[in-house]
Amino acid sequence: MAIAAALRFEVIRDTIGLLTFDQPGSRANTLGQAVLAEFAQMLAALEKRTDLSGLILASGKPGMFIAGADLNELGSATPEPEQTRKLVQRGHDIIARFEKLPFPSVAAIDGACMGGGLEVALGCDYRIAGSHPKTEIGLPEVKIGLFPGWGGTQRLPRLIGPALAVELICAGEAVPAARARDLGIVFDAVPSDKLLDEAVRLLAWSKQSGDWKEARRKKQQPVGLTEEQHAFTFAVAKAQVLAKTKGQFPAPLAALEAIARGCNVPLDEALKVESELFVPLVGSPISKNLIAVFFMTQKLQKDPGVDAAVSPRTVERVGVLGAGLMGAGIAGAHIRRGVPALMLDSDARALEKGIAAIAKVMHTRIEIGRMKPDEMLKAMSLLNSTGNLSLMADRDVVIEAVVENEAVKTQVYRDLQPILKKDAILASNTSTISITRMAQATDRPERFAGMHFFNPVDRMPLVEVIRGEKTSDETVVTLVALAKRIGKSPIVVRDCPGFLVNRILFPYINESLALLEEGADPRAIDKAAVTFGMPMGPITLKDLVGLDTSLYAGRVVNQAFADRAKNTRILDELVSAGRLGQKSGAGFYSYAKGSRGVDDPALAGFLAKCNAGKRAINAEEITDRLFLPMLTEASRVLAEGIVRQPSDVDMGLILGIAFPAFRGGLLRWADTIGLAKVLEKLKVYEKLGPRFQPTEEMRKLAAAGKGFYAG
Ligand code: NAI
Repeated sequence: MAIAAALRFEVIRDTIGLLTFDQPGSRANTLGQAVLAEFAQMLAALEKRTDLSGLILASGKPGMFIAGADLNELGSATPEPEQTRKLVQRGHDIIARFEKLPFPSVAAIDGACMGGGLEVALGCDYRIAGSHPKTEIGLPEVKIGLFPGWGGTQRLPRLIGPALAVELICAGEAVPAARARDLGIVFDAVPSDKLLDEAVRLLAWSKQSGDWKEARRKKQQPVGLTEEQHAFTFAVAKAQVLAKTKGQFPAPLAALEAIARGCNVPLDEALKVESELFVPLVGSPISKNLIAVFFMTQKLQKDPGVDAAVSPRTVERVGVLGAGLMGAGIAGAHIRRGVPALMLDSDARALEKGIAAIAKVMHTRIEIGRMKPDEMLKAMSLLNSTGNLSLMADRDVVIEAVVENEAVKTQVYRDLQPILKKDAILASNTSTISITRMAQATDRPERFAGMHFFNPVDRMPLVEVIRGEKTSDETVVTLVALAKRIGKSPIVVRDCPGFLVNRILFPYINESLALLEEGADPRAIDKAAVTFGMPMGPITLKDLVGLDTSLYAGRVVNQAFADRAKNTRILDELVSAGRLGQKSGAGFYSYAKGSRGVDDPALAGFLAKCNAGKRAINAEEITDRLFLPMLTEASRVLAEGIVRQPSDVDMGLILGIAFPAFRGGLLRWADTIGLAKVLEKLKVYEKLGPRFQPTEEMRKLAAAGKGFYAG
């Protein structure tokens, strides 16, 4: 059976070749091996055409030019360097052939043009962009632990100058059409329906003026920075990259080196430098993990939340109970995405403050260019507020975010029940109270679930959709669909204390307190966590969240898992002394006079009260002790079926507590180390208690030489 071709060729306007890339059976065009072979064949034929005056490379897919290399191929195995070199060379050869065609070429870009897609377009003599809202142009490879390895680090600096190229490549951010024109990446940005005409016009002009030959000649030359310019440009860039990556990611630094070493030599030499630096990155653990996270993200976006084929109910209006920190955040998230929300609070002042908080988030978004004033007006027109429960009568979903008090919450449900539509869904944003138990206090346990947002709601993507014992599939899929509609990433979790994220976070929080009481320096604990890749250390995190909140939530989880919870006293001591963290001016660190947290000599006194030790604890032990108890808990979560798959654990932690994506998540981190090695590490700390005991599941996987994923 012949495989359907991804490339189509036709002659338009008598002498212009139009090469259309339209990968069969896919919404995206990607540059896998089969497609590259087709390109090679097509170019071999084109090179011989004497009847053409120009070539246009376009896409047959709406909103998509070329998405980039095929990540299934890049992320699947750890190839031998020689094999990678061959693959890289294949791309280079194709792009070089575009540059040698006996007529000018233009890439007509209408939609996403990313990574390898842009590198192919850079091989064309010109690029012109269409106004499709999905048009974005960039080299995002650093986000998957690589850098552009098909000449992108060399051709882009020759086109727009090294300083701008460094910015785009090392940050991996894409730009829209108009910005690409301003930067000089594309010749022009035009309305999509004029794109083909404009491309034809550009070819005619370049053919007539001979400009295309000059453009080609320039591309082969060095950029020609003076020694001073070179030293300055790359010293500044290196400092910026180091500040941003904290030395964790090799890819942006390697990209920088490729640009620095390649920009002042001819293109063919520069491409060799690029390959030499690129090859070792392919298949590296960081790159494989980041590619895995890319695929887990896609999988999550498509996951309806249940295995059965159940359709979500239509949700036209939501109600939000409570206008506090979370209620206002939740109502704001809905109206920003066009879902009308009625926000209720028993306290009129809280309601006023809630509305102001919603408006403030939108003002900030306008300031940073992420929202337009008319969009804010439209969103605010979808918000209503009330103190009167009876107005909830027409709501399809009501999300409760009143104070964290079970009696208050269940009373609200009882008051609401006679008012609510019979088929309306009721969801609670509780962080600690059992969903199954609260469901029993309602007249609709099938239509009751948890919908746990994270703070701050406008910035945190994760929503845990928690199913109680009786929650129906229909309720789950409806809440999952609603969360996606407002731009969130929902993960379905079975009810248990701490749900998914807090249950796995608490062993880490507890261990940081245990380490402190054994004599570890708080800064050393924080530093070990940050070096591992966490956005901040556990001690700073507690000061930020509030020590009282942390103590209360910790109690719930620790009581539920008393067999393995490590109890400590330091948090109680600090809270009793009114040291609640940043909000009260002091917690573990001091925040006096608005400082960002400085060491506080008073902490020693509190630690002394807890019989704290004075043992020197090295960074390796701190790291192991922080992350291994999380891992054993995560394994329990999986074994108990709290989530349906390992990727739910990893994505939950990446999205909910910013667990480092370059580690691929907690379970993938363990897989990368190897479970046999993990078990060896656990053995060292076994005497500290059951939290360092591997689960049966882990032992089995290790014995079989498998990992959480491969298993
Ligand atoms: P908050 O104290 O800022 O707001 C609670 C609001 O509920 C107040 O405005 C209060 O006037 C109102 N309220 C109290 N009783 C009421 C009643 N009977 N009827 C109507 N309104 C009533 O609290 P926050 O932080 O917004 O938390 C709300 C819920 O969200 C809690 O269940 C909490 O555990 C949960 N949550 C909190 C997170 C956080 O970081 N603060 C994160 C995730 C969940």
